[in-house]
Amino acid sequence: MICGLIAIVSCNKKEVNPNLDSNVMLEEPVNTVVDSAAAGKHEGLALIEGGDCLTCHKMDVRVVGPSYQEVADKYTEADIDMLAGKIIEGGKGNWGEIPMTPHAGMSQENAKKMVAYILTLKK
Ligand code: HEC
Repeated sequence: MICGLIAIVSCNKKEVNPNLDSNVMLEEPVNTVVDSAAAGKHEGLALIEGGDCLTCHKMDVRVVGPSYQEVADKYTEADIDMLAGKIIEGGKGNWGEIPMTPHAGMSQENAKKMVAYILTLKK
């Protein structure tokens, strides 16, 4: 029995080392993400991907909320402040009776970056 236990323990110890090695390798993808941001990915898109937006919105298909292409077709740069406020406060009525949930913790500045990105989808 004791011999068996020692074998298991030493086996577990051996597994620790490969894990440490793979942790070191994880640093590479992180650098790649930073590079793609530097390569010109829209800051608003990064914020949208990092938030909950894509649960209810897709770029080209209506899901719970309107597609971002529909939003882009309906509005212009003059509406950026209004739309940013709507993202923060939530609300309904412009597309139907389903409300958008509020994003109370979001800054007006970040919300405007997201709207600016959405408007680039205008056809
Ligand atoms: C719970 C689902 C849900 C989430 C999460 C969500 N939305 Fe919405 N969104 C909606 C719905 C529903 C509408 C339509 C509201 C209406 O009819 O006025 C909408 C509308 C919009 C509009 C158009 C507003 C208008 O008045 O025409 C924009 C812009 C928008 N969302 C951006 C975002 C962004 C950016 C995020 C992430 C921070 C987000 N949404 C997260 C459901 C959601």
